[in-house]
Amino acid sequence: MISLEEFHLIRDYIEKHCGIYLSDEKVYLVETRLTALMFEQGCKSFRELYQKAVLDRTHVLRDKIIENITTNETYWFRDLHPFGILDEVLFKHYADEITAGRKDKIRIWCSACSTGQEPYSIAMTFREFMRENHRLRPDHIEITASDISSTVLFIGKMGRYDNLSMSRGLSEEFRDRYFVRGDKVWTIKDEIKQMVKFQKLNLQENFHHLGRQDIVFCRNILIYFSTEFKQNILRRIASLLRPNGYLFLGASESIIMYTQEYEMLRHAMGLYYQIKQNEEKHHAYSVR
Ligand SMILES: C[S@@+](CC[C@H](N)C(=O)[O-])C[C@H]1O[C@@H](n2cnc3c(N)ncnc32)[C@H](O)[C@@H]1O
Repeated sequence: MISLEEFHLIRDYIEKHCGIYLSDEKVYLVETRLTALMFEQGCKSFRELYQKAVLDRTHVLRDKIIENITTNETYWFRDLHPFGILDEVLFKHYADEITAGRKDKIRIWCSACSTGQEPYSIAMTFREFMRENHRLRPDHIEITASDISSTVLFIGKMGRYDNLSMSRGLSEEFRDRYFVRGDKVWTIKDEIKQMVKFQKLNLQENFHHLGRQDIVFCRNILIYFSTEFKQNILRRIASLLRPNGYLFLGASESIIMYTQEYEMLRHAMGLYYQIKQNEEKHHAYSVR
């Protein structure tokens, strides 16, 4: 059993390395998710596991602790609304901009992408949009998908999903159109896979190397962070977004308490956020 002192050591270590904040009610979570790792590492206590992780210069054990603590729950077209908003509002707007020569491509960053269902759902939404808008091509969109966990990124990059994952949120029509059936596994077709570039990224780190984005998905991840870290990420996303850029959050998440930099918008029961226009910022970032 984990002691409160051990829990605090590990809790602080986790927050330091991935930003996830665990309140005292989460003792059970650390115990249940790290017990197997503790035995696998030959440790007799959680304190020993913590000490081993601190001394491990390779960071392999640190990454294993983070992988065990993070929740990777995801599914296709989660909450539906964001994809409806892309299709009915944003892709339409950007398509007009591209057609008028005012824009060359739509850049979207999926910032905690887990096993890939979210960025691939965006890619499928764009493909569907292209079926009606023949002037758009796949190279008119660039989707970057990132996560802290190498394991989930590996699954995303492979684009291979078992029957259970396939049954969560994906219509048969899309399944048959965009996936190839294997024995027990479905593989996403290259036409979708090639639209998404995966990379490892910890949201605690600087992400300006990604370049300016039109749309950021930061869904079902802020809930795990402290108020201070939420504010910090939202500020950095605001400076990454292009003027008038958009932010999507999870259905149960809100940013009203944490920042004034975004305006909340509604479309067909769905919520999304647009960066507020700031003359100075607009001027500084007006280069496409
Ligand atoms: C609950 S999943 C959300 C997946 C997807 N956005 C969705 O809404 O379906 C949260 C993801 O955030 C990742 N994560 C946790 N801490 C992170 C951090 N500091 N930086 C980047 N990703 C992180 C986890 O590995 C996990 O895959």
